[in-house]
This record gives sequence, C-alpha cells and structure tokens, in this order.
Amino acid sequence: SQGLGINFQLTEEHLEVQKAAREFAQRELLPGVIERDDKQEFPYEQIKKMGELGFMGMMVSPEYNGGGMDTISYVLAMEEISKIDASASVCMSVNNSLVCWGLEKYGSEEQKQKYLKRLATGEIIGAFCLSEPEAGSDATSQRTTAEDKGDYYLLNGVKNWITNGSTASVYLVMAQTHPEKGHKGINCLIVEKGMEGFVVGKKEDKMGIRGSDTHSLMFTDVKVPKANRIGDDGFGFRFAMETLNGGRIGIAAQALGIASGAYELALKYSKERKAFGKFLHEHQAIQFKLAEMYAKIEAARLLIYKAAYLKDTKQDFALAAATAKLYASEIAQEVTTEAVQIHGGYGYVKEFHVERLMRDAKITQIYEGTSEVQKIVIARSLLK
Ligand code: CAA
Ligand code: FAD
Repeated sequence: SQGLGINFQLTEEHLEVQKAAREFAQRELLPGVIERDDKQEFPYEQIKKMGELGFMGMMVSPEYNGGGMDTISYVLAMEEISKIDASASVCMSVNNSLVCWGLEKYGSEEQKQKYLKRLATGEIIGAFCLSEPEAGSDATSQRTTAEDKGDYYLLNGVKNWITNGSTASVYLVMAQTHPEKGHKGINCLIVEKGMEGFVVGKKEDKMGIRGSDTHSLMFTDVKVPKANRIGDDGFGFRFAMETLNGGRIGIAAQALGIASGAYELALKYSKERKAFGKFLHEHQAIQFKLAEMYAKIEAARLLIYKAAYLKDTKQDFALAAATAKLYASEIAQEVTTEAVQIHGGYGYVKEFHVERLMRDAKITQIYEGTSEVQKIVIARSLLK
C-alpha cells in the first residue's frame, strides 16, 4: 500500500527555499516581466542568477553540483517563480525535471561528469526533444531516425516545439533505431549544439510564456557518438515516459504558481477598488469567487504535494503526477480567468499582470501531455 505519512508541516529547509524563490522572483523577475513577454525576450540574466542560486539543478546530488533537495522543495520553488514569470519557470522545469533528473537517474558516469555537472549549476541549459510536427500526443509515432553505424548513430529528422530550443547547449533527442520494434526501438541521444548537421529552426510566436524560446530543430546526418546514448539500446521511449512522470509534477507546480499568483493579485485588488460605495471584496459575489479560487488552489497544491511525496519516498507516482498535472492546469485556467474578471477592464490590460497569467495558464493544459493525455494515463492506470 502507498502509506502516506500525512504531515502538512513544511520543514525549515522547505520554508527557506520557498522564501528564497519568492524573494528572487520579486527582486529579479518582476522588473521587466511585462516587457519581456511583449518582446518575446528570453530572461538570460535571470536564468544565470537562478543557476547561481541553485534553482537549475535542485534535485541533483551535490556530487554532481546539485542542491540535493527533495521534490517538495522543487515544487515550492517552481510555484514561487511561476507566480511572477512562467517563461523563466518553464526553462527551470525542463532543465531540472526532464534533463537533469533523467541524466542523473539513467545516464552513464561519463555522461554525468561531462554534462550533468554543468547543467546542474545552470552553466549550460538543457532541452528535451520528443515532439515532432506530426507526433505530439501520439509520441510513439515519431519519425526521427537514429541509424546504428557502429561507433555512432546517424541522426535525421525534425523535432518541434522545443523549449530552450536556442538557448540550450545539450539536447536529449528521442529517435527511432529499430522501426520494426515500435516504441521499443527508440533511443535517447545526447546531442550537443554545434554538432555538424544540427540546425535550430524558427522561433515560435506564442500566446503565452512568450519569454521562453520555443523552436523547431532539424537534424541532417548528425553523427552522434554511441557513448551519448542514454541507457540500453531501445530504452529511449521508456526514458521519455519515466522522465515525463517527474516533469508533470514540475508543470503542475507551474500551473499552481500561475493560479496562486493571479489569486493573490485579485485578492489585493479587491481590497483596493471600490464599486457601488464599497470595496469589491465587500460584495458577496466577489467573496464567493475568491473562496472558490482558494479552494481550487488548495486542492491542486495537495495533489502536487502528494505526487512529490510519493516520488521522494520512491513509490509509484505516475498516476499521482498525471492527476496533479491534469487538475492543476485546469484550475489554473479557471482561476486566472476569474482573476481577470475581478480586475474588470484593468484585468484586460498588461499593466495588471493577470492577463499574462491567463495566457500563460493555457500552455499548462497542453505541454508535457495535454489534459486529454493525462486522462488517458489516469484511466489506463485505473483500469489495468
Ligand atoms: N510512465 C511510464 N511508462 C509509460 C507511461 C508513463 N506515464 N505512459 C506510457 N508508458 C509506457 C507504456 O507502459 C508502454 O510501455 P510497454 O509497451 O513497455 O508496456 C509504452 O510507454 C507505450 O505506451 P502505450 O502502449 O500506452 O502507447 P500509446 O501510444 O497508446 O500512448 C501515451 C502513449 C501515454 C499517449 C504517450 O505517448 C504520451 O505520454 N504522450 C504524450 C507525450 C508528451 O507528454 N509529450 C511531452 C513532450 S515534452 C514537453 O512538452 C516539455 C515541455 O513542454 C516543457
Ligand atoms: P496533438 O497531439 O495533435 O493533439 C491535438 C488535440 O487532440 C489535443 O487537444 C489533444 O489532447 C487531442 N488528442 C490527441 N490524441 C487524442 C486521443 N487519443 N484522445 C483524445 N484526444 C486526443 N515537446 C517536447 O518534446 N519538448 C519540449 O520542450 C516542448 N515544449 C513545448 C513548448 C510549447 C510552448 C508548446 C506549445 C509545446 C511544447 N512541446 C514540447 C510539445 C507538446 O508536448 C505538444 O504540443 C503536446 O504534447 C501536444 O501535441 P500536439 O501539439 O502534436 O497536439
């Protein structure tokens, strides 16, 4: 049984991480966040500082320059960063939970020395490359190929929608080596920027998380050394799925942060704005909105903490992660929409932040598995 040692108390260390992330977000991310969104500017300086503070490799063991922290700490930091800047937090999430975690868990010692140590400090940034133009949800149908040439793989194909697409130095690329084996023929290869035949394609002009750099990537006869394969031959799809289970906790925490950021702004605004001779929060209709927003956020938070707890205690957490990601992303959309409503016309303009949070919330229902995919994962687990 999955014994959940129920304890809602955060430790001193957790509270310190939360405080550090909150202060960092206020001090370093808030200034310029509207302009970066407007101009689609990647937060280079801010991400560099996040690396220096240990936010880019939080769960990596100190042996590989990481923070050696648990998933709860990571979730707390993700929430605080996401309240202010979800473009910075998606970069953080991919680097921490898809790239660093996957490398530490499944990479060779040589790969950890060569790549993980620098990724964990944010000295370099990583990207995770599964999706293709014709294969997003249906990830096993991917067409990128990694032909076995003895000492190396010959990589050919296109990846789409890759977060950190142009800023990354290291890319974990899923590619098919044995098509006759279906998803069991897929490998994950570590590709370095600058390898001959690897071209970063166009940057996407997005609705939200506009400060993050999302690109397509093209691979033409890229020679990737065998030593850059993660795990055994054919382990790539399993690698992607196992890694995404953890990633989904990170994105759930991002959704939670977007929702709680919008809620905090709406609560504050309701105490400042007057209509019909009283403050907004004195109208019961507004109080009820705030109460519902709060209840949804709390429910999402507990689902996320549970998933993080199961992962930290080495229990099966795939179902809990999919449930948390599904719920948190759905309520992020609802809560941010209500936050705009509470702000009235002011909510519809950039200066008040909530319109950006509403646009940012939408992506959490799409990436790392759409809400429909989470339901597939949940239902398969329930019915198996
Ligand atoms: N954990 C572990 N293994 C899993 C898994 C999970 N959550 N989900 C599927 N698998 C395994 C299955 O057990 C199966 O393995 P075996 O054959 O060895 O038993 C294998 O994966 C294939 O699964 P299915 O037979 O169920 O395959 P399917 O094609 O019917 O469905 C899917 C698979 C669950 C829909 C899967 O393709 C999927 O998760 N799609 C969504 C892809 C996704 O999340 N992409 C995110 C890209 S990264 C990203 O988006 C980053 C970012 O934005 C910041
Ligand atoms: P499709 O799979 O074509 O889905 C279209 C619609 O059909 C969706 O609503 C979907 O839920 C629904 N649908 C599909 N199949 C089913 C089904 N069986 N049952 C019910 N409904 C279904 N990918 C990466 O690999 N790495 C990244 O770093 C990354 N970053 C991203 C950043 C951004 C900003 C965006 C937009 C995407 C990113 N992605 C990344 C890709 C993302 O994971 C995919 O967009 C996502 O998995 C959905 O795939 P798709 O876009 O091909 O949609």
